[in-house]
Amino acid sequence: MILQSMMPRGVVAREATDDPDGLTLLPREAAEIERAVDKRRREYTTVRHLAREALGELGFDAVPILKGDRGQPLWPRGVVGSLTHCDGFRGAVVGFAMGVRTVGVDAEPHLPLPAGVLPSVSVESERDVLVGRPQDGIAWDRLLFCAKEATYKAWFPITGRWLGFEDAAITFERTDWAGGAASGTFHSRILIDGAASDGGAPVAGFDGRWRITDGLIVASIAVV
Ligand SMILES: CC(C)(COP(=O)(O)OP(=O)(O)OC[C@H]1O[C@@H](n2cnc3c(N)ncnc32)[C@H](O)[C@@H]1OP(=O)(O)O)[C@@H](O)C(=O)NCCC(=O)NCCS
Repeated sequence: MILQSMMPRGVVAREATDDPDGLTLLPREAAEIERAVDKRRREYTTVRHLAREALGELGFDAVPILKGDRGQPLWPRGVVGSLTHCDGFRGAVVGFAMGVRTVGVDAEPHLPLPAGVLPSVSVESERDVLVGRPQDGIAWDRLLFCAKEATYKAWFPITGRWLGFEDAAITFERTDWAGGAASGTFHSRILIDGAASDGGAPVAGFDGRWRITDGLIVASIAVV
């Protein structure tokens, strides 16, 4: 289980590699997603099934996980969590807000970004570092993108505000290789005012982890 291995104690993770048949939505979720195409409905359904399993582990009965006006998942009071889906991966993480301030997870296929995308999702300091990286089999540009999306998902519940790709700078720290898989850590430095709306300290940055395995990149942030 990739996600669980990246999470601190107190955060429960569930993941899947496809959309099993037979999963059902709660009525309000079904209403929220009724106009979506089949692929979208299936990923939405699977990730909510996973989230409910994880919430069950925290002691919650089945509750609908609807979307807020900015796309954010709406968790039961006292819970923080994050969802992600990409081809071949669906993941959900949840924890009690008492012990975990925020979480953000993102999964991406381990492939280079399409040509021309990097400039619009990076700042100059990030591009400078990417240019100098050795060819080591890691799609660093996609990993950067993945870390930035995890950053936004962790940022939003704390601030309730937008964070653009130009508003944070990622630096990659340790990189480990084991059994053909790579993993490591990163830091997201927030470049704009990090005032919080959750009653906590302003956000200056986040420490995160990443892992590449089986053609997949996963990035995660958990602030405990
Ligand atoms: C929201 C966003 C991060 C989602 O990432 P993605 O790779 O497109 O899609 P994923 O499958 O990984 O994640 C989708 C999930 O993100 C979650 N999400 C959406 N908006 C969110 C928000 N404002 N806050 C937290 N989570 C959010 C939802 O749970 C969604 O799943 P659902 O629609 O089934 O509920 C992305 O679409 C986006 O808007 N990015 C621009 C902002 C950004 O990344 N800034 C970089 C800052 S450095």
